[in-house]
Parts: sequence; structure tokens; C-alpha cells
Amino acid sequence: MGYNLGILISGNGSNMLNIIEASKKKIIKSKIATVISNNPRALGIKEASKKGIDVKIINQNKYSNIDDFENSLSQYLLKKRVNLICLAGFMKVLSKDFVKKWKNKIINIHPSLLPSFKGLNTHDRAIRQGVKFSGCTVHFVNEKLDSGKIIDQEIVKVLKSDNVYSLQKKILMKEHKLYIRVLKSLEMKNGKI
Ligand code: GRF
Repeated sequence: MGYNLGILISGNGSNMLNIIEASKKKIIKSKIATVISNNPRALGIKEASKKGIDVKIINQNKYSNIDDFENSLSQYLLKKRVNLICLAGFMKVLSKDFVKKWKNKIINIHPSLLPSFKGLNTHDRAIRQGVKFSGCTVHFVNEKLDSGKIIDQEIVKVLKSDNVYSLQKKILMKEHKLYIRVLKSLEMKNGKI
């Protein structure tokens, strides 16, 4: 069974676009109910609009506190009947309350092999540490940053010649593949459990 996806972005939105394409081509059964950006300057906003997808900007800077911002977010997601939230380069950490409200309904993609390299600057840290393999992870979002149950991962080899840019590029390609595989596997389980 497909989901009604709400994709949350803050930047380029290449994962978002990839999910939109997969939905349009019926590679996944899920539909994109909305794309929400917390950043009014996110490049992904224009791209999603061009594809005819509902796009909503909920700018956190216009709210005096996190509760009000997240209430707007929740209300809009409910209005659009979203039943799975996909974080795709969404750079705001969601509160415990929000995560509780949407328990097991938020997934995130992270550019490392979790539990290694949680947080930011993952590729830089991976290269400095001299890891031989890195990759990406899709996980459920819980109240701790990048710590929810891992759903699936993709691995890339880190070469001596790699720098932050080349590693990021290689991993992003894997991210696109991984997010779709995860959505397909969740769709198979959806409604059966
Ligand atoms: C990706 O590397 C993702 O793993 C991380 O932020 C980046 C977003 O890229 N959370 P894009 O906006 O999907 O191109």
C-alpha cells in the first residue's frame, strides 16, 4: 500500500526530486502529498513546484517559539493527510513532542553509516578518521539526533584520493537509490502489520 508522503527539505532537494520522480514513474506506490521547506531560499522549492507538487514554506524564523512552528507543521501535514514524513536534507532538529506525535511516521536519510558520524560534517569527519568505508542510512526518527532504528544502508568505499566533495557526490548517488528501496520495502509492510 502506498503512503501519502510529506517531504521536508531545507536545501537542494535532490533526494526529494528523486522521490517525486519515482512516484510519478510508479516505481513506488506512494504519492507526494506535499513538500515543506523551513527555509524560504531552499533551491528545492522551485524544483518541486515545477513538477506540479504542492509546496509549502513554513519559515521557522517567523515563529517566536518552536511549539508554534511545529504546530503549523503538524497542522499542514494533517491537512494534507500525510501518513509518512520523509526528511530529506531537513536541517532542523524536531522536538521530542513532535516526534512523539508522529511516532514511527518520520524517516530520515543521513550521509554516513550510522551509528558512526551522527550530526553535521559527516564526510569531513569520515575522511579525517581514515575510514575505508562510508555510506548512507535511512532510519526512523526518534527523540535523539540520528539515533532511531536503522531501516537500511548503502555502502561506498572511501579511496585515498577522495575528498569531501567526491565522497559527498558518491554517497548522494547511493542516497537516491537507498531512499527508494526503503520506501518500497515500507510500502510492502504498510497495512500488513
Ligand atoms: C543529504 O546528504 C542527506 O543525507 C542529508 O542532507 C543532504 C540533502 O541533500 N541529510 P539533498 O537536499 O537531498 O540534495
